Amino acid sequence: MNQDELKAMVARAALEHVKPGSIVGVGTGSTVNLFIDALATIKDRIKGAVSSSVKSTERMRGYGIRVFEASEVERIPAYIDGADEIDHRGNMIKGGGAALTREKIVADLAERFVCIADASKLVEVLGRFPLPVEVIPMASAQIVRRFKAIGGDAQVRANVVTDNGNQLLDVRGLAIKDPPGMEIEVSLWPGVVEVGIFAKHHASVCLLGTPTGVKRMDF
Ligand code: A5P
Repeated sequence: MNQDELKAMVARAALEHVKPGSIVGVGTGSTVNLFIDALATIKDRIKGAVSSSVKSTERMRGYGIRVFEASEVERIPAYIDGADEIDHRGNMIKGGGAALTREKIVADLAERFVCIADASKLVEVLGRFPLPVEVIPMASAQIVRRFKAIGGDAQVRANVVTDNGNQLLDVRGLAIKDPPGMEIEVSLWPGVVEVGIFAKHHASVCLLGTPTGVKRMDF
């Protein structure tokens, strides 16, 4: 099975975590795109979705799935999204698709975070994948210096403006041994809009696509 087939397998498996009649939280990325394709087959059984990006919204509307604003929703049973990396405790790096801020906002509305990922995303220590950080442009040089002081090489992602009109930094060279601690520390730096460490909002469950089938990990 290739990586796309593994992604499609977990995308379909995630349908079991969609509560009938509910509003489902929907993330962003290639795995989620396949989830949206699967969700379209049961669209009459859900009330609608809350989306974490313009791209996912457009894809769902293309299928006739009703998309609610996050501000219209108080609580949702499940948020389904991919990850760039996930560790054995359910902590994740997210933001490869530049949608980390809205992803965390929708994840915060959800009772459960259902991570869908192919097996290549499972790591011992987060940080091999460059850590995305959304920043206010005025602060980016200072935030780059702050990362340098802790061993990170941060660079502005070229030609990318987030859905919120901000810049994105990708930080290489970090071994994130304490995801909750680093998430809090970086969040406190002035000008950081959101950091792509999902530790407080870690996965509740991960459906991992492996060559032998879907491996479920509960956290
Ligand atoms: C989007 O900003 C990311 O957080 C995605 O969830 C992550 O990049 C996973 O994407 P793929 O499913 O395309 O690997």
